[in-house]
Amino acid sequence: MQNGQLAKRELGWLLNSVGLKKKHLVCPIFVRDRGNKQYHIANMPDVAAITLEKTTTQIQDIIELGISSIMIFGLPAERDDVGSQAVSQNGIVQNTVRKLKMEFGDAISIVTDVCICQYNLSGHCGLFEGKNDLVDNDRTVRMLSDIALTHAQAGADLVAPSAMMDGQVTSIRSSLDEHGYKKTKILSYSAKHFSSLYSPFRSIAFSKQIRDYKSLDKSSYQISYSNLRDCARKIENDIREGADMIVVKPSIMYLDVISMVKEKFGFPIAAQTVSGEYAMIKSAANNNWINENEWKVTSISALKRAGADSIISYFCKDIARLLDCR
Ligand code: PBG
Ligand code: ZN
Repeated sequence: MQNGQLAKRELGWLLNSVGLKKKHLVCPIFVRDRGNKQYHIANMPDVAAITLEKTTTQIQDIIELGISSIMIFGLPAERDDVGSQAVSQNGIVQNTVRKLKMEFGDAISIVTDVCICQYNLSGHCGLFEGKNDLVDNDRTVRMLSDIALTHAQAGADLVAPSAMMDGQVTSIRSSLDEHGYKKTKILSYSAKHFSSLYSPFRSIAFSKQIRDYKSLDKSSYQISYSNLRDCARKIENDIREGADMIVVKPSIMYLDVISMVKEKFGFPIAAQTVSGEYAMIKSAANNNWINENEWKVTSISALKRAGADSIISYFCKDIARLLDCR
């Protein structure tokens, strides 16, 4: 017991020594619009998809731990062809943002996930061109801008387009500005790599309504891990389009990308621990194969060391607790 305590203190110091502060943490939450029982997620131990009512206590906990920022992922009751719930003023994300801003005001900074793949029947991040299999980039971009605007109107502080469509930042920025939301910031997923590490997330967000969700192939718009030049070009482009911060995702396999962005662009950067990274650490730890706290700390501090300014992670609450132990 005593050793355990001591180890936690040392881990807290380690986090501190790479410069990690609670203000760098962004805690993801899943809010769902279906069923009334909270459910836990088999391949993401300790992560729950909560109902709108439950968000109040969830955010109270997060604020009490000293975390001041969350990212909201919405799980709508129904999907349809065009993902219309994504853009509804009464969609799950819009309702959650409105409620939390009323209850907590500026005590919590709210980032919203802006995409359509949780809302449409295909599970793709884009709308399709007629009957063929190609994503209609421009129509998707218009829809993403409409979604982002409804999030801003509800009170979101930052909108985070994660669809990887070309020109999404320019279009969202001008739509927000035109409607008087100049202060709403854009956190752009510029370097979202095509990856099977998103599969635990998809089993939460996709499995109930999309039969072949396991074979969803997003490689035509998400970027390849094998092409660092393409990655740099995407990032540079989003910066030029007016992003306030960019995301690299997954995180721990892309430390080189994080430090490249810091060095080359000197631009604010968020690293996102994805569901598969979380599941790997949790499952091994739950089998007593690795030490959970040590691995959380090693991976999160590596992101900070590489140059991440913000860390979006399912580990945020644990990391905040460890920072308190030092
Ligand atoms: C979809 C989306 C994904 C994640 C967040 N938003 C996965 C995907 O591209 O299918 C993954 C998050 C995670 O794995 O934690 N826009
Ligand atoms: Zn998507």
